Amino acid sequence: MKVSFFSTKSYDRDFFERFNTSHEIIFFDTHLSLESALLAKGSDAVCVFVNDQLTSEIIYKLHELGIKIIALRCAGFNNVVLDTAQKLGIAVVRVPAYSPQAVAEHAVALIMTLNRKTHKAYNRVREGNFSLERLTGFDIYGKTIGVIGTGKIGNAFARIMLGFGCKVLAHDLYPSADLEALGVSYVSQNELLSSCHIISLHCPLTPETQHLISTDTLRLMKHNAMLINTSRGGLVNTKAVINALKTGQLGYLGIDVYEQEADLFFKDLSEYVIQDDMLLRLMSFPNVLITAHQGFFTEEALSEIAKVTLQNLSDFESGNLNPATTLVGG
Ligand code: NAI
Repeated sequence: MKVSFFSTKSYDRDFFERFNTSHEIIFFDTHLSLESALLAKGSDAVCVFVNDQLTSEIIYKLHELGIKIIALRCAGFNNVVLDTAQKLGIAVVRVPAYSPQAVAEHAVALIMTLNRKTHKAYNRVREGNFSLERLTGFDIYGKTIGVIGTGKIGNAFARIMLGFGCKVLAHDLYPSADLEALGVSYVSQNELLSSCHIISLHCPLTPETQHLISTDTLRLMKHNAMLINTSRGGLVNTKAVINALKTGQLGYLGIDVYEQEADLFFKDLSEYVIQDDMLLRLMSFPNVLITAHQGFFTEEALSEIAKVTLQNLSDFESGNLNPATTLVGG
């Protein structure tokens, strides 16, 4: 099958070339847009990533070009208008779980860095500054941790935090009996927000969860609490969070995702003037840590993404789509 890959980086090429044995792949650096969609002419499939916006208009364009399947090389699918794909008979497949541990462990890395300020200590020591002034952290042991969304990643994260000796509270539409058996308590979202020292978001971005963290919900949180978001930027109202950081209501913020990340993340913009004033404001806080959507970025996860995506394409070709990875059957 001939597949046009959009938004590719050197690591995508490395991993897909390593595992591909049966498809003809054309790699493009560019995002998928109405204009760049034309690059897919002659292909049977497109393969896209988190910040490629599959709007109805673009899906219609892909349909016109003869595209039969959209392969997402990610888990989240909030960037695809599934109804349009369904209507046009275009299949949509994804990689539902490539390494939940990778993202869960990255959330823990954000917590530990914000708390123990290892990023600052690293720079200080390199400059011969061995002072401990303002590097005070707190014990994670014994703290109450809130997990919103206990699917694959939230589940892995909750288990790690139980291992730290934390009390873990969770909120999900479908509580996990496994986690309950391990001592996790499910509570309402408001109770979780008001009871936890650290809150980590692991639910998908949906109309219900958009701006789940807002001025109103930030007010419910403990003074000086830590908020971690490795899920999707749209879960957090950035302006509200900036205000809460300014007043000290929010004590720490660790984000791997950002609502307006599509024009920024995965690019080297170090020689450009960044135009996003909200992101620059966030970057100016000493108690904010931002990483550029790297939660998934481990050897294991990249291998799994490549293997499952290639298998999804082969399954489509042989008429045997795997229900576990299929969003729209085509
Ligand atoms: P999942 O589908 O296994 O789990 C999501 C959980 O959220 C489910 O248990 C669901 O019931 C729950 N949920 C849905 N709506 C909710 C609501 N309103 N309130 C509370 N819980 C709700 O998904 P998984 O694999 O754990 O991924 C979670 C999110 O992580 C993805 O949607 C994606 O946005 C993000 N992600 C981020 C990555 C990164 O590199 N930073 C990589 C992979 C995923």
